[in-house]
Amino acid sequence: MPRFSKAVSSLRSSEIRDLMTLASRPDIISFAGGMPGNELFPVQEVEELFHELDSKKKQSAFQYGPTPGLPSLLESLAGFLEKKGLPVKENRLLITTGSQQGLNLLAKTFIDPGEPVLVENPCFIGALSAFRASEAELRGVPVDSDGISMRALQQEIDRTEKAKFLYITPYFHNPAGLLYTTNRKEQLISALQGQDIPLIEDDAYGDLYFYEEDRPRLKPIKAINPNGIDVCYTGSFSKILGPGLRLGWMLVPEEIYQKCELIKQSADACSPSFTQVLADAFIRSGQIYSYIASIRKEYKRRAESMVAALREHLPEYVKWNEPRGGFYIWLTLPEETDATRIMMLALERGAVFVVGKTFDPEGKRNNSLRLSYCNNTPEQIAEGIPLVTDAIKQVCG
Ligand SMILES: Cc1ncc(COP(=O)(O)O)c(C=O)c1O
Repeated sequence: MPRFSKAVSSLRSSEIRDLMTLASRPDIISFAGGMPGNELFPVQEVEELFHELDSKKKQSAFQYGPTPGLPSLLESLAGFLEKKGLPVKENRLLITTGSQQGLNLLAKTFIDPGEPVLVENPCFIGALSAFRASEAELRGVPVDSDGISMRALQQEIDRTEKAKFLYITPYFHNPAGLLYTTNRKEQLISALQGQDIPLIEDDAYGDLYFYEEDRPRLKPIKAINPNGIDVCYTGSFSKILGPGLRLGWMLVPEEIYQKCELIKQSADACSPSFTQVLADAFIRSGQIYSYIASIRKEYKRRAESMVAALREHLPEYVKWNEPRGGFYIWLTLPEETDATRIMMLALERGAVFVVGKTFDPEGKRNNSLRLSYCNNTPEQIAEGIPLVTDAIKQVCG
Protein backbone atom coordinates (compact mmCIF):
# COMPACT_ATOMS: atom_id res chain seq x y z
CA MET A 1 0.00 0.00 0.00
CA PRO A 2 1.60 3.32 -1.01
CA ARG A 3 2.13 5.68 1.97
CA PHE A 4 -0.09 8.58 0.96
CA SER A 5 -0.02 11.99 2.63
CA LYS A 6 -2.63 12.72 5.31
CA ALA A 7 -4.13 15.43 3.12
CA VAL A 8 -4.77 13.09 0.20
CA SER A 9 -6.00 10.23 2.38
CA SER A 10 -8.86 12.39 3.62
CA LEU A 11 -10.01 13.32 0.10
CA ARG A 12 -13.21 11.71 -1.16
CA SER A 13 -14.50 11.74 -4.72
CA SER A 14 -17.36 14.19 -4.95
CA GLU A 15 -20.80 12.66 -5.23
CA ILE A 16 -21.36 14.89 -8.25
CA ARG A 17 -18.37 13.40 -10.08
CA ASP A 18 -19.48 9.85 -9.22
CA LEU A 19 -22.97 10.59 -10.39
CA MET A 20 -21.75 11.96 -13.69
CA THR A 21 -20.97 8.37 -14.72
CA LEU A 22 -24.57 7.31 -14.10
CA ALA A 23 -26.02 10.54 -15.36
CA SER A 24 -24.24 10.17 -18.69
CA ARG A 25 -26.32 7.07 -19.52
CA PRO A 26 -28.39 8.21 -22.51
CA ASP A 27 -31.67 6.95 -21.03
CA ILE A 28 -31.34 9.06 -17.86
CA ILE A 29 -32.62 12.64 -17.70
CA SER A 30 -29.99 14.38 -15.64
CA PHE A 31 -30.76 17.36 -13.45
CA ALA A 32 -27.45 16.71 -11.69
CA GLY A 33 -24.57 18.60 -13.31
CA GLY A 34 -24.08 22.36 -13.35
CA MET A 35 -23.04 22.15 -16.99
CA PRO A 36 -24.14 24.60 -19.67
CA GLY A 37 -26.10 23.02 -22.52
CA ASN A 38 -23.70 21.74 -25.23
CA GLU A 39 -25.96 23.04 -27.96
CA LEU A 40 -25.63 26.57 -26.54
CA PHE A 41 -21.86 26.92 -26.98
CA PRO A 42 -20.79 29.58 -29.55
CA VAL A 43 -18.83 27.04 -31.61
CA GLN A 44 -19.11 28.73 -34.98
CA GLU A 45 -18.43 32.22 -33.63
CA VAL A 46 -15.24 31.06 -31.89
CA GLU A 47 -14.15 29.13 -34.97
CA GLU A 48 -14.46 32.29 -37.04
CA LEU A 49 -12.64 34.38 -34.45
CA PHE A 50 -9.69 31.97 -34.45
CA HIS A 51 -9.66 31.88 -38.24
CA GLU A 52 -9.41 35.69 -38.37
CA LEU A 53 -6.39 35.94 -36.02
CA ASP A 54 -3.02 36.77 -37.56
CA SER A 55 -0.41 34.01 -37.57
CA LYS A 56 1.62 35.58 -34.72
CA LYS A 57 -1.43 35.45 -32.44
CA LYS A 58 -2.17 31.88 -33.54
CA GLN A 59 1.40 30.84 -32.76
CA SER A 60 1.26 32.46 -29.33
CA ALA A 61 -1.82 30.34 -28.63
CA PHE A 62 0.39 27.22 -28.77
CA GLN A 63 3.08 28.74 -26.54
CA TYR A 64 3.59 28.98 -22.76
CA GLY A 65 2.40 32.29 -21.39
CA PRO A 66 3.14 34.48 -18.36
CA THR A 67 1.83 33.10 -15.03
CA PRO A 68 -0.61 35.99 -14.38
CA GLY A 69 -2.19 35.54 -17.83
CA LEU A 70 -1.71 36.79 -21.40
CA PRO A 71 -1.39 40.60 -21.29
CA SER A 72 -3.97 41.03 -24.03
CA LEU A 73 -6.58 39.00 -22.10
CA LEU A 74 -5.73 40.78 -18.85
CA GLU A 75 -6.45 44.04 -20.63
CA SER A 76 -9.72 43.00 -22.31
CA LEU A 77 -10.95 41.21 -19.18
CA ALA A 78 -10.17 44.32 -17.13
CA GLY A 79 -12.53 46.23 -19.44
CA PHE A 80 -15.24 43.56 -19.00
CA LEU A 81 -14.91 43.70 -15.21
CA GLU A 82 -14.75 47.50 -15.03
CA LYS A 83 -18.21 47.57 -16.62
CA LYS A 84 -19.42 45.84 -13.44
CA GLY A 85 -17.84 48.64 -11.40
CA LEU A 86 -15.00 46.41 -10.17
CA PRO A 87 -11.92 48.29 -8.92
CA VAL A 88 -9.49 46.64 -11.32
CA LYS A 89 -6.82 49.33 -11.14
CA GLU A 90 -6.60 49.30 -7.33
CA ASN A 91 -6.23 45.47 -7.26
CA ARG A 92 -4.45 42.75 -9.22
CA LEU A 93 -6.06 40.45 -11.74
CA LEU A 94 -4.83 36.87 -12.08
CA ILE A 95 -6.04 34.48 -14.78
CA THR A 96 -6.67 31.06 -13.25
CA THR A 97 -7.28 27.60 -14.67
CA GLY A 98 -10.99 27.76 -13.94
CA SER A 99 -12.16 29.62 -10.87
CA GLN A 100 -11.75 26.26 -9.13
CA GLN A 101 -8.02 26.90 -9.28
CA GLY A 102 -8.61 30.35 -7.81
CA LEU A 103 -10.28 28.72 -4.80
CA ASN A 104 -7.40 26.27 -4.46
CA LEU A 105 -4.81 29.06 -4.62
CA LEU A 106 -6.67 31.06 -1.97
CA ALA A 107 -7.00 27.96 0.22
CA LYS A 108 -3.23 27.37 0.00
CA THR A 109 -2.57 31.05 0.62
CA PHE A 110 -4.53 31.20 3.86
CA ILE A 111 -5.03 27.77 5.44
CA ASP A 112 -2.70 25.75 7.63
CA PRO A 113 -3.95 22.26 8.61
CA GLY A 114 -6.72 22.40 11.21
CA GLU A 115 -7.45 26.10 10.83
CA PRO A 116 -11.08 27.20 10.65
CA VAL A 117 -12.76 28.74 7.60
CA LEU A 118 -16.35 29.94 7.30
CA VAL A 119 -18.55 28.67 4.48
CA GLU A 120 -22.23 28.88 3.73
CA ASN A 121 -24.37 25.85 4.47
CA PRO A 122 -25.18 24.60 1.88
CA CYS A 123 -21.97 25.38 -0.01
CA PHE A 124 -20.54 24.81 -3.50
CA ILE A 125 -18.89 21.38 -3.40
CA GLY A 126 -15.80 22.52 -5.33
CA ALA A 127 -15.06 25.09 -2.63
CA LEU A 128 -15.57 22.51 0.12
CA SER A 129 -13.15 20.13 -1.57
CA ALA A 130 -10.56 22.85 -2.18
CA PHE A 131 -10.67 23.86 1.50
CA ARG A 132 -10.70 20.22 2.67
CA ALA A 133 -7.63 19.55 0.53
CA SER A 134 -5.85 22.21 2.63
CA GLU A 135 -7.16 20.42 5.75
CA ALA A 136 -9.32 23.34 6.88
CA GLU A 137 -11.82 22.95 9.67
CA LEU A 138 -15.05 23.81 7.84
CA ARG A 139 -17.51 25.89 9.85
CA GLY A 140 -20.88 26.02 8.10
CA VAL A 141 -23.10 29.08 8.48
CA PRO A 142 -26.74 28.58 7.40
CA VAL A 143 -28.34 30.65 4.65
CA ASP A 144 -31.92 31.91 4.44
CA SER A 145 -33.75 33.41 1.47
CA ASP A 146 -31.88 36.75 1.81
CA GLY A 147 -28.35 35.38 2.14
CA ILE A 148 -26.07 34.17 4.90
CA SER A 149 -27.71 34.15 8.35
CA MET A 150 -26.31 37.17 10.19
CA ARG A 151 -26.95 35.87 13.71
CA ALA A 152 -25.03 32.65 13.06
CA LEU A 153 -22.29 34.55 11.23
CA GLN A 154 -21.88 37.02 14.09
CA GLN A 155 -21.46 34.11 16.52
CA GLU A 156 -18.70 32.73 14.33
CA ILE A 157 -16.99 36.13 14.04
CA ASP A 158 -17.06 36.46 17.84
CA ARG A 159 -15.35 33.11 18.45
CA THR A 160 -11.88 33.28 19.95
CA GLU A 161 -10.23 31.21 17.25
CA LYS A 162 -10.79 33.53 14.32
CA ALA A 163 -11.63 32.01 10.93
CA LYS A 164 -9.03 32.50 8.18
CA PHE A 165 -11.68 33.68 5.70
CA LEU A 166 -15.36 33.62 4.78
CA TYR A 167 -16.37 32.12 1.43
CA ILE A 168 -19.73 33.10 -0.13
CA THR A 169 -21.57 32.78 -3.45
CA PRO A 170 -24.04 35.68 -3.27
CA TYR A 171 -25.29 35.71 -6.86
CA PHE A 172 -27.45 32.72 -7.86
CA HIS A 173 -25.95 30.47 -5.28
CA ASN A 174 -24.82 26.96 -6.05
CA PRO A 175 -26.73 24.94 -4.82
CA ALA A 176 -29.33 27.11 -3.05
CA GLY A 177 -30.13 29.27 -6.11
CA LEU A 178 -30.46 32.36 -3.90
CA LEU A 179 -29.56 35.95 -4.69
CA TYR A 180 -28.40 38.00 -1.70
CA THR A 181 -30.44 41.12 -0.94
CA THR A 182 -28.63 44.47 -0.88
CA ASN A 183 -29.56 44.81 2.76
CA ARG A 184 -27.98 41.47 3.69
CA LYS A 185 -24.79 42.40 1.84
CA GLU A 186 -24.64 45.67 3.78
CA GLN A 187 -25.09 43.82 7.08
CA LEU A 188 -22.39 41.37 6.05
CA ILE A 189 -20.01 44.20 5.21
CA SER A 190 -20.56 45.89 8.60
CA ALA A 191 -20.03 42.61 10.42
CA LEU A 192 -16.74 41.90 8.65
CA GLN A 193 -15.20 45.37 8.68
CA GLY A 194 -12.04 45.52 10.78
CA GLN A 195 -12.31 41.83 11.76
CA ASP A 196 -9.28 40.64 9.78
CA ILE A 197 -11.37 37.94 8.11
CA PRO A 198 -10.89 38.16 4.31
CA LEU A 199 -13.99 37.62 2.18
CA ILE A 200 -13.89 35.30 -0.84
CA GLU A 201 -16.71 36.45 -3.11
CA ASP A 202 -17.43 33.83 -5.78
CA ASP A 203 -19.31 35.34 -8.71
CA ALA A 204 -19.53 32.43 -11.16
CA TYR A 205 -23.17 33.09 -12.14
CA GLY A 206 -23.85 36.83 -11.69
CA ASP A 207 -24.09 37.49 -15.46
CA LEU A 208 -26.93 35.01 -15.79
CA TYR A 209 -29.72 37.13 -14.31
CA PHE A 210 -33.28 36.77 -15.62
CA TYR A 211 -34.67 40.15 -14.55
CA GLU A 212 -33.23 43.61 -15.31
CA GLU A 213 -34.61 44.90 -12.01
CA ASP A 214 -32.17 42.63 -10.13
CA ARG A 215 -29.10 44.36 -11.52
CA PRO A 216 -28.53 46.62 -8.49
CA ARG A 217 -28.52 43.49 -6.28
CA LEU A 218 -25.80 42.01 -8.47
CA LYS A 219 -23.26 44.72 -7.70
CA PRO A 220 -20.32 42.76 -6.27
CA ILE A 221 -19.15 43.54 -2.74
CA LYS A 222 -15.76 43.93 -4.40
CA ALA A 223 -17.26 46.79 -6.45
CA ILE A 224 -18.65 48.40 -3.29
CA ASN A 225 -15.01 48.28 -2.21
CA PRO A 226 -15.65 48.46 1.55
CA ASN A 227 -12.90 49.71 3.87
CA GLY A 228 -11.39 47.25 6.28
CA ILE A 229 -12.15 44.01 4.37
CA ASP A 230 -9.80 42.19 2.03
CA VAL A 231 -12.24 41.07 -0.67
CA CYS A 232 -10.99 38.32 -2.98
CA TYR A 233 -13.31 38.26 -5.97
CA THR A 234 -13.38 35.18 -8.24
CA GLY A 235 -15.07 34.72 -11.58
CA SER A 236 -15.14 32.34 -14.51
CA PHE A 237 -15.62 31.94 -18.25
CA SER A 238 -17.21 28.55 -17.59
CA LYS A 239 -20.85 29.62 -17.51
CA ILE A 240 -20.56 32.51 -20.01
CA LEU A 241 -18.44 30.87 -22.70
CA GLY A 242 -17.57 27.27 -21.83
CA PRO A 243 -16.06 25.27 -18.96
CA GLY A 244 -13.85 23.43 -21.45
CA LEU A 245 -11.74 26.57 -21.77
CA ARG A 246 -10.72 26.07 -18.11
CA LEU A 247 -10.38 29.79 -17.54
CA GLY A 248 -11.32 31.89 -14.57
CA TRP A 249 -9.90 34.89 -12.75
CA MET A 250 -9.39 36.45 -9.40
CA LEU A 251 -9.28 40.13 -8.53
CA VAL A 252 -7.49 40.55 -5.21
CA PRO A 253 -5.42 43.03 -3.19
CA GLU A 254 -1.71 43.20 -4.16
CA GLU A 255 -0.37 41.31 -1.12
CA ILE A 256 -2.72 38.37 -1.63
CA TYR A 257 -2.04 38.38 -5.37
CA GLN A 258 1.70 38.00 -4.77
CA LYS A 259 1.16 34.78 -2.78
CA CYS A 260 -1.36 33.36 -5.25
CA GLU A 261 0.91 34.02 -8.21
CA LEU A 262 3.79 32.22 -6.49
CA ILE A 263 1.59 29.19 -5.77
CA LYS A 264 0.26 29.19 -9.32
CA GLN A 265 3.83 29.07 -10.66
CA SER A 266 4.27 25.69 -9.00
CA ALA A 267 0.74 24.50 -9.83
CA ASP A 268 0.67 24.91 -13.61
CA ALA A 269 3.05 27.78 -14.57
CA CYS A 270 0.27 29.32 -16.67
CA SER A 271 -3.33 28.77 -17.69
CA PRO A 272 -3.91 27.49 -21.25
CA SER A 273 -2.70 30.08 -23.77
CA PHE A 274 -4.90 28.60 -26.46
CA THR A 275 -8.15 29.31 -24.67
CA GLN A 276 -6.87 32.65 -23.35
CA VAL A 277 -6.38 33.78 -26.96
CA LEU A 278 -9.93 32.67 -27.78
CA ALA A 279 -11.48 34.31 -24.71
CA ASP A 280 -9.61 37.53 -25.49
CA ALA A 281 -10.89 37.55 -29.08
CA PHE A 282 -14.43 36.80 -27.83
CA ILE A 283 -14.36 39.82 -25.51
CA ARG A 284 -12.70 42.16 -27.99
CA SER A 285 -15.22 41.31 -30.73
CA GLY A 286 -18.00 42.35 -28.35
CA GLN A 287 -19.69 38.99 -28.89
CA ILE A 288 -19.39 38.12 -25.21
CA TYR A 289 -22.17 40.63 -24.46
CA SER A 290 -24.60 39.42 -27.13
CA TYR A 291 -23.83 35.79 -26.30
CA ILE A 292 -24.48 36.28 -22.59
CA ALA A 293 -27.75 38.06 -23.44
CA SER A 294 -28.81 35.08 -25.57
CA ILE A 295 -28.02 32.40 -22.95
CA ARG A 296 -29.70 34.47 -20.24
CA LYS A 297 -32.91 34.18 -22.26
CA GLU A 298 -32.49 30.46 -22.83
CA TYR A 299 -31.73 29.65 -19.17
CA LYS A 300 -34.73 31.73 -18.15
CA ARG A 301 -36.91 29.67 -20.52
CA ARG A 302 -35.53 26.45 -19.01
CA ALA A 303 -35.99 27.72 -15.47
CA GLU A 304 -39.58 28.70 -16.22
CA SER A 305 -40.40 25.25 -17.52
CA MET A 306 -38.93 23.64 -14.41
CA VAL A 307 -40.87 26.04 -12.19
CA ALA A 308 -44.08 25.20 -14.07
CA ALA A 309 -43.46 21.45 -13.73
CA LEU A 310 -42.65 21.76 -10.02
CA ARG A 311 -45.74 23.89 -9.39
CA GLU A 312 -47.83 21.21 -11.02
CA HIS A 313 -46.28 18.11 -9.47
CA LEU A 314 -44.50 18.95 -6.22
CA PRO A 315 -46.33 18.26 -2.95
CA GLU A 316 -46.94 21.36 -0.82
CA TYR A 317 -44.71 20.24 2.04
CA VAL A 318 -41.61 20.70 -0.14
CA LYS A 319 -40.06 24.19 0.12
CA TRP A 320 -38.18 25.56 -2.87
CA ASN A 321 -36.90 28.73 -4.52
CA GLU A 322 -38.08 30.21 -7.78
CA PRO A 323 -34.79 31.08 -9.49
CA ARG A 324 -34.03 34.65 -10.58
CA GLY A 325 -30.92 33.57 -12.48
CA GLY A 326 -28.18 30.96 -12.60
CA PHE A 327 -28.66 27.22 -12.94
CA TYR A 328 -30.30 25.77 -9.81
CA ILE A 329 -33.44 25.06 -7.82
CA TRP A 330 -33.00 23.84 -4.22
CA LEU A 331 -35.68 21.67 -2.66
CA THR A 332 -36.02 21.33 1.11
CA LEU A 333 -37.93 18.23 2.21
CA PRO A 334 -39.43 17.36 5.60
CA GLU A 335 -36.76 17.21 8.33
CA GLU A 336 -36.23 13.42 8.57
CA THR A 337 -36.18 12.71 4.82
CA ASP A 338 -33.18 10.96 3.28
CA ALA A 339 -32.76 12.41 -0.21
CA THR A 340 -30.52 9.49 -1.22
CA ARG A 341 -33.56 7.16 -1.03
CA ILE A 342 -35.44 9.54 -3.32
CA MET A 343 -32.51 9.66 -5.69
CA MET A 344 -32.29 5.85 -5.99
CA LEU A 345 -36.01 5.69 -6.81
CA ALA A 346 -35.76 8.58 -9.26
CA LEU A 347 -32.84 6.84 -10.96
CA GLU A 348 -34.89 3.65 -11.41
CA ARG A 349 -37.56 5.81 -13.05
CA GLY A 350 -34.97 7.56 -15.27
CA ALA A 351 -33.99 10.88 -13.68
CA VAL A 352 -31.13 12.02 -11.47
CA PHE A 353 -30.20 15.04 -9.32
CA VAL A 354 -27.72 15.80 -6.53
CA VAL A 355 -28.59 15.03 -2.89
CA GLY A 356 -28.29 17.75 -0.25
CA LYS A 357 -25.54 16.24 1.91
CA THR A 358 -23.08 16.75 -0.96
CA PHE A 359 -23.22 20.47 -0.16
CA ASP A 360 -23.22 20.20 3.63
CA PRO A 361 -19.80 21.10 5.07
CA GLU A 362 -20.24 18.19 7.48
CA GLY A 363 -21.56 15.89 4.73
CA LYS A 364 -24.59 14.87 6.81
CA ARG A 365 -27.76 16.92 6.32
CA ASN A 366 -29.70 15.18 3.60
CA ASN A 367 -33.30 16.46 3.61
CA SER A 368 -32.66 18.55 0.51
CA LEU A 369 -31.71 18.17 -3.13
CA ARG A 370 -30.47 20.26 -6.04
CA LEU A 371 -32.09 20.33 -9.46
CA SER A 372 -30.23 21.94 -12.39
CA TYR A 373 -32.26 23.16 -15.36
CA CYS A 374 -29.31 24.45 -17.37
CA ASN A 375 -28.61 21.37 -19.42
CA ASN A 376 -32.12 20.24 -20.37
CA THR A 377 -34.65 21.36 -22.94
CA PRO A 378 -38.13 22.34 -21.68
CA GLU A 379 -39.40 19.03 -23.14
CA GLN A 380 -36.89 16.97 -21.14
CA ILE A 381 -37.74 19.00 -18.04
CA ALA A 382 -41.48 18.36 -18.49
CA GLU A 383 -40.76 14.65 -18.86
CA GLY A 384 -38.17 14.34 -16.08
CA ILE A 385 -39.65 16.39 -13.22
CA PRO A 386 -42.63 14.04 -12.63
CA LEU A 387 -40.12 11.17 -12.26
CA VAL A 388 -38.45 13.10 -9.43
CA THR A 389 -41.67 14.28 -7.78
CA ASP A 390 -43.16 10.73 -7.91
CA ALA A 391 -40.05 9.49 -6.08
CA ILE A 392 -40.46 12.28 -3.49
CA LYS A 393 -44.11 11.33 -2.94
CA GLN A 394 -43.21 7.66 -2.61
CA VAL A 395 -40.66 8.40 0.13
CA CYS A 396 -42.37 11.30 1.94
CA GLY A 397 -45.99 10.31 1.37
C1 LIG B 1 -20.14 28.64 -7.36
C2 LIG B 1 -19.11 28.11 -8.29
N1 LIG B 1 -17.87 28.58 -8.22
C3 LIG B 1 -16.90 28.13 -9.01
C4 LIG B 1 -17.15 27.13 -9.95
C5 LIG B 1 -15.99 26.59 -10.72
O1 LIG B 1 -16.02 26.91 -12.01
P1 LIG B 1 -14.76 26.76 -12.97
O2 LIG B 1 -13.65 26.11 -12.25
O3 LIG B 1 -15.27 25.93 -14.11
O4 LIG B 1 -14.43 28.15 -13.36
C6 LIG B 1 -18.43 26.61 -10.08
C7 LIG B 1 -18.70 25.53 -11.02
O5 LIG B 1 -19.73 24.92 -11.07
C8 LIG B 1 -19.45 27.10 -9.21
O6 LIG B 1 -20.68 26.62 -9.24
